[in-house]
Amino acid sequence: MTISRADNDLLTLVEGEAPLGKMLRDYYWLPAVPSSALEADGKPFRLRILGRNFVVFRDSEGRVGVLDEACPHRRASLALGRNEDNGLRCIYHGWKFNAAGDLVEAPNARQQDRFCKSVRLNKYHATDRGGIVWVWLGQGEIRPPFPNLPFTELPADQRCVTTQVVPTNWLQGVEATMDTTHLSFLHSSTIELQGGPRKNVLTDKTARMEFDEQPYGFRYAAIREIGDGKTYVRINNYVMPWYSVICPPDANAPGTVFMSVPIDDKTHRAWFVHFNVHGPLGNTMFSQSPDVLAWPPLPPGGPDDNWGQNRDVMKRGHFSGFPQHLATEDFAMFMSQGDIFDRSEEQLCEADLAIVRLRRVLLQTVRQYQQTHRVEAAVDGTIDYASIVSVGGVLSSEANWRSLVQ
Ligand code: FES
Ligand SMILES: [Fe+2]
Repeated sequence: MTISRADNDLLTLVEGEAPLGKMLRDYYWLPAVPSSALEADGKPFRLRILGRNFVVFRDSEGRVGVLDEACPHRRASLALGRNEDNGLRCIYHGWKFNAAGDLVEAPNARQQDRFCKSVRLNKYHATDRGGIVWVWLGQGEIRPPFPNLPFTELPADQRCVTTQVVPTNWLQGVEATMDTTHLSFLHSSTIELQGGPRKNVLTDKTARMEFDEQPYGFRYAAIREIGDGKTYVRINNYVMPWYSVICPPDANAPGTVFMSVPIDDKTHRAWFVHFNVHGPLGNTMFSQSPDVLAWPPLPPGGPDDNWGQNRDVMKRGHFSGFPQHLATEDFAMFMSQGDIFDRSEEQLCEADLAIVRLRRVLLQTVRQYQQTHRVEAAVDGTIDYASIVSVGGVLSSEANWRSLVQ
């Protein structure tokens, strides 16, 4: 079940010519910046993703443009540009680019029109959906269909999007979302406080797992015995490459989509989409901060002070010593694992079956990409992302959990 160092590299590294990075650039839409962080004619967003640097801006008419950060003239940063009159103007010599990625003015060049057409530029596709600006960095002919996950078509008051930059490799983030038994320990104090059916994870701290393979990854049920001939079932979905569709605590509560997107090999942006398919979302632990680029909070310290862990609150009964937020507890675990931890040193148990499976799906896909330079499932249009359902509930021990998703 443990994996080799070579496979660990294949699963984690994205910079330069790493096959995973190339595959993600060519075959997947990337969540780039929360829509609310990008104002028309406002400050451009400096985007680092998959080890490369870009600039994202919203023009006067609301269109989104994505360009290489370095100006094609003499490589100054376009993140310093003036965003005005439907374009981004480099402040070094005034070259101006529109949202489609065309150079429309080069005022220090003679015969501007002809000159503008002669400049070589990379162009990228962007789309603004579900409160997120997404970008596709591929330069090939086949553009992957957009992953219309269950939140992407909801009105703005039914969802919130927030992100945080975490100083570790992306896979540590994805794996935690498929790690069901950590709820019973790391998050036990938060779950105790929130109450509701999710408290059942504190009754049975193990989980039996059953899996259904899916064209997008897999769906699985974590089944806990809670007494009186009943089980508590949580059905969650792993969606290639970094999406986890996580069940609400009960059928009427908001659901969550987590994404852990590589900034580079040793940093990722953690995304939290909290959404309510039934009506307005209201105030939640994810929507309560206006700082959508830095919420939930990182642990308040570094390795020298145990990442700011608070032993006083632990003495008073808090389990983890990170009372700031449920996600702060997760971030502390990722950071304590190291920037890219070596999975060949792990000793797993049966509680880790979903993590093992997610690695297997990813490895198969990257290997297939290495051989064929294609990821068929990402482009053939057969995946119906909108119909992916994650749900939890209490069932009698004899009942089939699949009845909950039909
Ligand atoms: S470096 Fe951008 S216009 Fe000269
Ligand atoms: Fe967690």
